[in-house]
Amino acid sequence: GFSEDQFKIGFSQCTSVDSWRKAMQSEMQNELILFQNMELVITDAHDNNENQIRDIRELVKSGIDLLIVSPNESAPITHIVEEVFRKGIPVIVLDRKIESENYTAQISADNYLIGREAGKYAARLLNGKGNIAEIWGLKGSSPAIERHKGFSEVISKYPGIKIIFSETGEWFKQGGTKMMKLAIEQHDNIDLVFAHNDYMAIGAYEVLQSKFGEHRPFLLGIDGLPGPNDGVNAVIQKKINATFLYPTGGAEAIQLAFKILNKKPFKKNIILKTVVIDSDNAEIQKLQTDQILSLQGKISAAKTILDSQIIKYKSQRMWLIISLSF
Ligand code: FRU
Repeated sequence: GFSEDQFKIGFSQCTSVDSWRKAMQSEMQNELILFQNMELVITDAHDNNENQIRDIRELVKSGIDLLIVSPNESAPITHIVEEVFRKGIPVIVLDRKIESENYTAQISADNYLIGREAGKYAARLLNGKGNIAEIWGLKGSSPAIERHKGFSEVISKYPGIKIIFSETGEWFKQGGTKMMKLAIEQHDNIDLVFAHNDYMAIGAYEVLQSKFGEHRPFLLGIDGLPGPNDGVNAVIQKKINATFLYPTGGAEAIQLAFKILNKKPFKKNIILKTVVIDSDNAEIQKLQTDQILSLQGKISAAKTILDSQIIKYKSQRMWLIISLSF
């Protein structure tokens, strides 16, 4: 029957305040329009491991058919995710990883590769010679660990380039600001700043711009989101030199959930594509994402109209049934 086909998906988000997480969630909501038999409940752990463990427990208690999880930090969230998986509830690990293979499927771009690409880009900007400040994401989260690994491996091949500062801004813009201040207090010879995301890169930019103006170091970030305060626009405004697209995987997670819940074949590891966004392609990237954003707006407007039509139709049918019974 109809009710048997209805599925409830729980999504445990590590945080939902930033624009990247918001984009992920609206991608999910837009994708869900196509799947009438799936309902999504999202919890927000506010960047806290204990909150996230509690959220996951509560989602399971509420009777979810599938769990999507984006772990705040890998190690502390591993055990609870394994527990859910062993209960027989399918688990999709999205973006940040756990330290185990005990999950149903995983979706993310290759953060190690992004780190390597950023390393090559940095080496080109520096012409093989210079000093780098690296501003990490949260040290226990897998994208930070992998971005660092890829980046530092490439940089270590250049005898003329050194990473002289390497501290965490914990993914926050204010963290980027704070670490950039610390870095220039400790060093007066920084030629390039590699931040693990665009929020921290923009936070660092504000410090560098007010201190050095036009003669500031090069700046690299990651995420490449559209939107006035995000990466693509920061490249267009020449605040940062380049960013690397880190797709959210929101739409893919919903498609994958549908396949798993309906016992269709699926891939255990989905690796999303990345691309560098710099002054060569930022404008065209913006044109394209603006178009996508406007289409998404139209789709959700259409959904609202459709929903109200359905309500009207249902109430008309009800009146028909009532009047026929007299
Ligand atoms: C958003 C974010 C992104 C980053 C990702 C890593 O919450 O910090 O900026 O790329 O998470 O998991």
